[in-house]
Amino acid sequence: MTTSLPILRLENISFSYPGRGRVLDNLSLEINKGDRIGLVGPNGSGKTTLFHIIMGLLSPYSGTIEFFGKPVKTPNDFKEVYKKVGLLFQDADDQLFSPTVLEDVAFGPLNLGKSKSEARNIAQYTLDRLGIAHFEDRVTHKLSGGEKRLVALATVLSMEPELLLLDEPSTGLDEKIKATLVEVLNRLELSYILISHESDFMSQIADTMFMMENGQLTKDVHIHQYTHKHPNPGQRH
Ligand SMILES: Nc1ncnc2c1ncn2[C@@H]1O[C@H](COP(=O)(O)OP(=O)(O)O)[C@@H](O)[C@H]1O
Ligand SMILES: [Mg+2]
Repeated sequence: MTTSLPILRLENISFSYPGRGRVLDNLSLEINKGDRIGLVGPNGSGKTTLFHIIMGLLSPYSGTIEFFGKPVKTPNDFKEVYKKVGLLFQDADDQLFSPTVLEDVAFGPLNLGKSKSEARNIAQYTLDRLGIAHFEDRVTHKLSGGEKRLVALATVLSMEPELLLLDEPSTGLDEKIKATLVEVLNRLELSYILISHESDFMSQIADTMFMMENGQLTKDVHIHQYTHKHPNPGQRH
């Protein structure tokens, strides 16, 4: 039996974009330390929206969010969430904005109050851990899609989050980099929710599976069942 509080508890969350139908419909979810959750669901089912709700980028019109047992509602409450939850955006360009890779990765630690040299050390260490130490002086916007994704992951990991939200992190990665990502995620003692359409990738790093459908989550779906239900002949996976 565990006595520690869940990292996050969402209860009866409902959300719609203005003028559109319901995207999340009374959705509830609890994330505990050590959880490695895979999240699947058709395109447009609201997976990214759920991540944005958790980060306070969107506000639900009903329901509650608790972070380590405390309700989070106001932008000020969400400051605590940002310190411990890292979101890897579906589009890496939404995450990267500094001229060079090292500056981008050092930005988060600096923002958390680290000194310039500490932030630099953390950034270098994080890039090294991802096998991309040699990227540090590269110009961020000139990187390839896969390279940007790894750098975006470095910007998130450099803030030493307790919970990671990974929105389709394997998109645009070649097999070698994907293997690095699997290895890193298995090595880190982190809790995470991972959105992916790639069943092989998912099965190597997720312990529990949820399916998003009709604005709600169903637990314990089988990855392969899902991918067979939604075949895409244009893709290898
Ligand atoms: N900014 C937005 N404004 C209006 N509708 C949106 C916006 N973002 C997403 N949607 C719609 O909300 C639904 C859920 O989108 P999303 O959360 O991105 O799904 P997923 O990540 O599962 O593919 C889709 O129908 C999408 O078109
Ligand atoms: Mg999405």
